[in-house]
Order: sequence, then structure tokens, then C-alpha cells
Amino acid sequence: MKEQLQAIETKAIMALQAVDSLTALDELRVAYLGKKGELTAILKQMGGLTPEERPIVGQLANKVRSTIEAKIEERLVQLKAEAELKQFEAEALDVTLPGKTTKQGGLHPLNRVLNDMIDIFKSMGFDVVDGPEIETEYYNFEALNIPADHPARDMQDTFYVGDDLLLRSQTSAAQIRTMENRKPPIRVICPGRVFRADEVDATHSPVFHQIEGLVVDKDITMCDLKGCLEQVAREIYGPDAKIKFRPSFFPFTEPSVEVDVSCPECGGKGCRVCKGAGWIEILGAGMVHPNVLSGCGIDPNEYSGFAFGIGLDRLTTTRYKISDIRLLFENDLRFLEQFDK
Ligand code: DAH
Repeated sequence: MKEQLQAIETKAIMALQAVDSLTALDELRVAYLGKKGELTAILKQMGGLTPEERPIVGQLANKVRSTIEAKIEERLVQLKAEAELKQFEAEALDVTLPGKTTKQGGLHPLNRVLNDMIDIFKSMGFDVVDGPEIETEYYNFEALNIPADHPARDMQDTFYVGDDLLLRSQTSAAQIRTMENRKPPIRVICPGRVFRADEVDATHSPVFHQIEGLVVDKDITMCDLKGCLEQVAREIYGPDAKIKFRPSFFPFTEPSVEVDVSCPECGGKGCRVCKGAGWIEILGAGMVHPNVLSGCGIDPNEYSGFAFGIGLDRLTTTRYKISDIRLLFENDLRFLEQFDK
């Protein structure tokens, strides 16, 4: 019996070495130490031993059991370590591989200039308002003192989406919506996209951007308009920038002016950018026409106001010395990335 016990121990230890999984290890435990296992089978025969032999064999059996148990435990630790190592290897990261960079986007140059303009106007007490890109004829023309047969419609009577609906050709429509909703004093700007059937070239695009401005209060004069625009020009183009008013015509302002800024490239001497003129036109403006005020329920005898419409695209191309307006709309990253800094 002693030999049998020794044999079981040796066999179990041999078998353990071949075990290569946790399940196999468990099966082995059952096969040797379980209720129907080999060791138990031997112990069941102890009844046939003499009283002297019994404690000796019993002791040996216990020793064999604890040896096998210890070896199983040892193998268990080994197997777990091996499994862990395998998992680590499978999950290994090669930290020497080049990383995947995520590209960070930047603001479009139009938005940079727009944000600056919003800051400047906000600091002067203006609110920013929004208007719809699809407008009615009334807001885009009629209420701006441009009746159906007015020649000023010719250039802007362009993208209709219905009998009475068109893609707005000027942000001036926002003036009317504002005056309908607010009482003076009014100080607002309305930036946005406008649409006209213009041929595409270096300075024209059928989609472009304007910033409309409107101030209505008691005793507003042309002087206020000039002071306001001078301040804006200095903030955008630097302290030496000058502006110049030229008489002009817009149906919704009287008098009307076109405003030029001294060429930021040559400072007024004349160069390729300003085509030798020394000045660059950046906006239209004027004193709000009494018809427009009264059409919106504001008494022109009590209130006066000024309005202006700035071309944001022109402002951006002159500010960054961009030679072709099309670059603003092509979304070529090689161009746009130059403004990321
Ligand atoms: N809406 C004019 C245009 O598209 C620009 C303009 C001129 C706006 C004079 C104004 C203004 O508010 O007073 O050409």
C-alpha cells in the first residue's frame, strides 16, 4: 500500500508538469484528490490493515495528499503568471511607433475679422442681431425705400425662391426688422451672408458677407457716423488709418456716402493693391431716410439715425493682403492653415 501511495505521488507530480491550463489542473485535482479519486480509493482499503500499520499508512497518505496539494497550488500560481504574461504580450503597446496626431482646426479668416468687428462694436455699445437669409421683397426692398420699379433693384433683384421670397441681397433688411422690434435708442450690427448674381472673379462672388449697422436716437448726425467709422478703421487697420467720405446714393439713406480707407498696403501713396488710388472702398453709409424711419413707426421729426453696410470680404482681403476673394471660399487647407497661428 505504501508503494501504491508513493506511486500516486510520483504519477501526480509527473502529470502536473504536463498540465497547461486551469481546467486541466482542476481535472487533475479531481482525479487524484476528489471523492472518487485515486488517493481516496486507496484510503478506502485501509480497513484491511493491521492496527500497527494503519497510523503509518495514514500518515503517509496525508503526506502524499499535502504534497500533491502543494504542487497543484504551485502549478496554479505558475499557470496564472503565464496567462498574465500572455495577456500583457497581446496587449503590448509599441511606444516607439509614430503617434497619431489629431489636427486642430482654426478659425476662418472671415470669422477672425468678424469676431474683431463684433468686439469693436460691442465696446461701443452695439448689440449683435441676426436676420433671415431668405427674405421677403418687403424687407429686402420695399421697406428700404426701393419700390418695385426703382432702378436700384436691377443689380440686386436676383435669386428668387418664390414669388415674394428671395435670397437677401443686402443685410440692410435687418434694419427694418430691428426697428419693428425695438424702440430707439437703437444701436445694432447685423453680420451675415448675402447673395447676388455676380460673375465670379478676383473681387466678386455671388455669395459674400456684409455687416450692417444701424443707430437711431435723438440728435444723431453725420458727425456721429464719421466718428464711429473712424474709430472702427483705426481699430482694424491701425492708428494711422484715415477714412474719406464720398457722396453717393442709396435709396434708404439721405444723404448717402461711400467710405474709403487709406490703403493699408502703401499708407495712401498709391500701389498695386489700391490700383494707384491710395484709398480702398470698404463700405456704404448715410443718414437713415425719413421714409424708412416712418415706415417702421419711428417719427423722423423726433429721431434721426445713421446706417452703414460694410463688406466683410473686402475688409478681410485688405486686412490680410489676400489677392483673390475666391481663396476665402475654396476651403483649401494650404490657404486656411496660414491663419491658424
Ligand atoms: N446695402 C448696401 C449695399 O449692399 C450697403 C449699404 C449702404 C448699407 C448704405 C447701409 C447704408 O446700411 O446706409 O450695397
